[in-house]
Amino acid sequence: MMERAYMQFPSKLFLDGGDPEETRQADKLLKKAGYHGLDGQTTNPSLIAERSVAVHHGEGAGGKVTTAHAVSFYRETVREMARVTTGPISIQVTGGPDMTAKEMLSEARERISWIPNGVIKFPCTAAGLTAASEFCEEGPVNMTLAFSQAQAAAVYSATAGHGRSPDGKPYDVFVSPFVGRLDDRGENGMDVVANILAMYRKLGDGHVRVLTASVRTVRHILYALFLKSDVITIPFTVFKEWAVPPKDSGREPFILPAADFIYDVPGLTDIAYEEMTLDLDWHEYDTSHDLTTAGVAKFWADWQTVVG
Ligand code: E4P
Repeated sequence: MMERAYMQFPSKLFLDGGDPEETRQADKLLKKAGYHGLDGQTTNPSLIAERSVAVHHGEGAGGKVTTAHAVSFYRETVREMARVTTGPISIQVTGGPDMTAKEMLSEARERISWIPNGVIKFPCTAAGLTAASEFCEEGPVNMTLAFSQAQAAAVYSATAGHGRSPDGKPYDVFVSPFVGRLDDRGENGMDVVANILAMYRKLGDGHVRVLTASVRTVRHILYALFLKSDVITIPFTVFKEWAVPPKDSGREPFILPAADFIYDVPGLTDIAYEEMTLDLDWHEYDTSHDLTTAGVAKFWADWQTVVG
């Protein structure tokens, strides 16, 4: 299997993180290699919490801050990121498992005003889809914690009425399949990306873009590029490994998959393509997934580590 290097990417490249310094460094590495720079950024409550703890650890209450302080820390963090990239920057709602659609909408309407290039991240739950179906008329959305083709079909249907910005551009709609968390429990997460792309390409109108998330390895990146995932969001450690390969690896910086690339991942169970249509009301799709439920709970628990 041959892999070659050049500075054209079949997918947009976002950084996944909570630290603007990483955003600056990733952008610099891309520019140094002759690319125009980062195409965007994703954040989430766990990543913001982790950095907040690092920044505030010397302060009272074990680094904990008030909710208002934590939210303004999140706002200042994405503002710094927005100085580096004008591409879409995802800002997640930070409620717990009981957060209602109404509460998500109210957070979304406030957070979208933080930066000109913000995108609101809602979970692929019933409440998240209800909120997104309304919010997509007013602004861009990224549906996070997606683990199944049925959830992606629901996202497609729920956001069919997405609106346009004042300059006439349709608002972005992303769906984020989390590959690493499926791999972690022995299922081939990249299959979900491949299946959603195949379904959208066969049946869709192109209004939802597939954002490969929960990336853990350079091979995830290579296969996502091979599949031409619309976007890949990459944590800085993996980004660096791809951009600056270890000296003895024999790899070029920013390698791309060869035409005969094969994604071989022994030990992971395949996730089969399911025949389904995209024209049902979103409520008719089975959007439940235990990893979505667990993911919402974990984001909330991590956010709670910073407030108090
Ligand atoms: C995506 O937007 C998420 O922030 C991220 O990719 C989650 O990755 P993890 O499963 O490694 O936490």
